[in-house]
Amino acid sequence: MGGSYVQQLHSSKFLVVMLLMSASLLPSCSSQTTRRFQFNIEQKEVSRLCHRKALLTVNGEYPGPTIAVQEGDNVEVKVTNRISQNTTIHWHGIRQIRTGWADGPAFITQCPIRTGQSYTYKFTVINQKGTLLWHAHHLWQRASIYGAFIIYPRLPYPFSVPIQAEVPIILGEWWNAEVDAVENEMMMYGGGPNASNAYTINGLPGPLYPCSIKDTFIQPVEHGKTYMLRIINAALNNELFFAVANHSLTVVEVDAVYTKPFETTAIMIAPGQTTTVLITANQDPNSSGMFAMASRPYLTTLFPSDKSIAVGFLRYKGTRNGKMELPTRLETLQLDNLPQLEDNDAAIKFSKSLKSLASPQYPCQVPKKIDKRIMTTISLNLQDCPANKTCKGLNGGRFLASMNNQSFVHPKMSILQSYYYNLTAGVFASNFPEQPPKSFNYTGVDPLTEDMSTETATKLFTVPYGARIEIVLQDTNFLNPENHPIHVHGHNFFIVGSGFGNFDIARDPARYNLIDPPERNTVAVPKGGWAAIRIKADNPGVWYIHCHLEEHTSWGLATGFIVQNGPIPSQTLLPPPEDLPLC
Ligand code: C2O
Repeated sequence: MGGSYVQQLHSSKFLVVMLLMSASLLPSCSSQTTRRFQFNIEQKEVSRLCHRKALLTVNGEYPGPTIAVQEGDNVEVKVTNRISQNTTIHWHGIRQIRTGWADGPAFITQCPIRTGQSYTYKFTVINQKGTLLWHAHHLWQRASIYGAFIIYPRLPYPFSVPIQAEVPIILGEWWNAEVDAVENEMMMYGGGPNASNAYTINGLPGPLYPCSIKDTFIQPVEHGKTYMLRIINAALNNELFFAVANHSLTVVEVDAVYTKPFETTAIMIAPGQTTTVLITANQDPNSSGMFAMASRPYLTTLFPSDKSIAVGFLRYKGTRNGKMELPTRLETLQLDNLPQLEDNDAAIKFSKSLKSLASPQYPCQVPKKIDKRIMTTISLNLQDCPANKTCKGLNGGRFLASMNNQSFVHPKMSILQSYYYNLTAGVFASNFPEQPPKSFNYTGVDPLTEDMSTETATKLFTVPYGARIEIVLQDTNFLNPENHPIHVHGHNFFIVGSGFGNFDIARDPARYNLIDPPERNTVAVPKGGWAAIRIKADNPGVWYIHCHLEEHTSWGLATGFIVQNGPIPSQTLLPPPEDLPLC
């Protein structure tokens, strides 16, 4: 996807063609198609906001190429590293059943791909349909190395309205400075990271930023037709709201699982999440014909943040906009649908509206019983500055983040490899605490005087194949309560409950939704609250669990779990591929 409107038009047409081809040419039984892609990780000079810099890209594209496959396909992506640093790619939300070697997080399931080397990610897309994303999974490289991952279903869509075109809407973040430098400075001094300079829609910030009118995403639409927007939050550090002026959105799928359709004026989407909506071009064709689509952050943090707004447009065909005079002032964009920066109610209302489709054809397979409940705090922490260092965190301290007082440290070796070969010493331990070390008033303690110290270590927990586990994710108000998007690799989960304040075991489980809870791979845990997720651990391997705000991952808000092999061959992890990178 590039900067020109013509290109945008072409790419959406291309997707429609792909869709038709896949529907007509492929038999509906489980034929095995293998789709192959080549990803060259390379630098490309890109300018936005009048700042030119060498960006890390795939094949020189920003955002990167869209991967479009059909449910059931085998996928092979050969990734070649042509930059001077290590890299990996993660297929976010793809379950990777038995193929954990292809999951991608650096030092969790593989050693990074070194300069000049290649690694071919091989996996099969099983029982998932809709929109996902792929992104780099090493350091902060996903700031610019990301793209859409689209899975066409084998069966027709469960909604009957004809779709005129399918349009990826990839939301991202742009820094004028080198993202490496932002990350290094944060890690060196323990302070908060510098905020981004812009948000982007398909890599384009839009007319509210300097020098950016030419960098505006415009989607042509025809009056009366319905379009599918595949919205992806690929931003590094921000939950986002998204809305379209004067149009409502019908949500039909999240994280590659169908939902009960519902209408909304705005969505809240956390990093790593995807939301597919239908939108009908039903506005007066005699209007200006230009309707803004816009994204701004949903802010729950006290850290300095980028509060700006990315804007693109729907352009009605056949209306008087041939000259492309884009509105450049916020007041003229009619963005009443777009929630304000700190609109918790809008965020919560949206999350509460999400339900699995739960139809006979698409049943909701939430575990009704569980074998084990794990409870973990998710916290920001403030540590004393190590001796003879300078720290720029609050009061001269150093920020960290943790789960159950453990700040996760990446080992120097791949955890999956060390687990597979049973050489775990010095790499990781399987003793992640399955309850908070002490129970306290998680969301009621004094945010600054409470003892926030945390331990840095590489600790995971282990479950047998097929275990039905519940994880209660409990926010704390250490420093500041925030909304945390917690992502689980290798599995989807069901969000059976959530609320404000402290999880209450005597009261809350009785109120769970065990009928049609939303099924996702990333849950936005409410600020100052909790969320309970249920997982059927039926995918042997090592799986990362982490906050998808990159700054929090860097500070250690992560853990992981090992799912042991089951008794039969189809329940065991496959052996490592021959080209698996070495550390
Ligand atoms: Cu999208 Cu571990 O990440």
